[in-house]
Amino acid sequence: MKALILSGGHGTRLRPLTYSQQKQLIPVANKPVLFYAIEDVIEAGIHEIGIIVGPNKEQVMETVRSVDWDAEIEFIYQGEPKGLAHAILVARDYLGDDDFVMYLGDNILREGIVEHLKHFKEGNFDASILLQEVPNPQQFGVAELSEDGKTIRRLVEKPKVPPSNLALVGIYFFKPVIHEAVENIKPSWRNELEITDAIQWLIDHGYRVGWTKVTGWWKDTGKPEDILDANRLILDDIKTDIRIHTSARIHGRVAIGEGTVIDGNTVIKGPAVIGRNVKIMNSYIGPYTSIGDNCIIENTEIEDSIVLEGSEIRNAGRIVESLIGRGVKIINGTSHPFGRKLVIGDNSRLIL
Ligand code: DAU
Repeated sequence: MKALILSGGHGTRLRPLTYSQQKQLIPVANKPVLFYAIEDVIEAGIHEIGIIVGPNKEQVMETVRSVDWDAEIEFIYQGEPKGLAHAILVARDYLGDDDFVMYLGDNILREGIVEHLKHFKEGNFDASILLQEVPNPQQFGVAELSEDGKTIRRLVEKPKVPPSNLALVGIYFFKPVIHEAVENIKPSWRNELEITDAIQWLIDHGYRVGWTKVTGWWKDTGKPEDILDANRLILDDIKTDIRIHTSARIHGRVAIGEGTVIDGNTVIKGPAVIGRNVKIMNSYIGPYTSIGDNCIIENTEIEDSIVLEGSEIRNAGRIVESLIGRGVKIINGTSHPFGRKLVIGDNSRLIL
């Protein structure tokens, strides 16, 4: 059994962060989203992992190689993102005749994949998918089940009129027959080879497609609000792990990395995670906040937010529900003319 984890694509819905960073590398609770997928796959006993990389391949490879994984990892270059089924086409040689799990590198699944893999194997299915009820099925692949609910009748990608509220989670188990399916489908209206069409091909040709329901939470981190949501969900489960001495007042579950300095006028309310070599002075860090390595926070209140590494925030008042990129400076100016002085990248959002 192998794994194919997808870390290509452009991530346009996460601009401006994705102008400089591959979307699967954006950290949630100070860990790249992609690492949650790699961990789930290894936890399920799969130690051969192919990672699909696209335009920012060097960045993904360097980040993944910075960790000593209990797996053999190979990188497979896709180039332009021409669809999830296209990624399988590109990985044909790597996958050979093995069964495999395909895991979209921007998905996070709280319960992992162990039980779902067991269902795929024990049911001897040709493919097996994961489903979850969602309030907005138009934004996902959607499954229509048979009347007795046992089999899948139809899959549609982002339907205007969804046949059900059962969304396809971005994790799929396949036998090698999927390669035949992928070779036989045509690009969709958005000019992508859709994995939903390949699975539909299996159904139409009498192959057995199983499904399991996701019971814990699942997040597709495609948009900024999804990243903040995933951050809240992960922080809900963190354990206290404080690697420094500080006289700051700390309440609730908080993790603080080595080399970080926090003064006695600061209050921290967990769940929160603060990285390494961070400086925090006279500030309040509120629940559901992740602060990356090497940040400086002074005279500021920040809550329910993510701040990526190397950012500096001074005298900035109160910041909530924000996603702040790497190396950002937010400071309160002290020279005339007063007023907001902004140097903001394309597609940024400021709510003042
Ligand atoms: O998250 C679940 C949804 O994922 C499913 O419900 C949909 O059926 C499925 O099509 C997919 O929809 P998205 O619109 O969210 O897919 P997206 O284009 O965002 O791509 C998913 C991941 O795969 C993302 O991490 C980028 C990567 N990717 C995408 C494409 C199209 C690649 O590596 N190569 C590609 O060619």
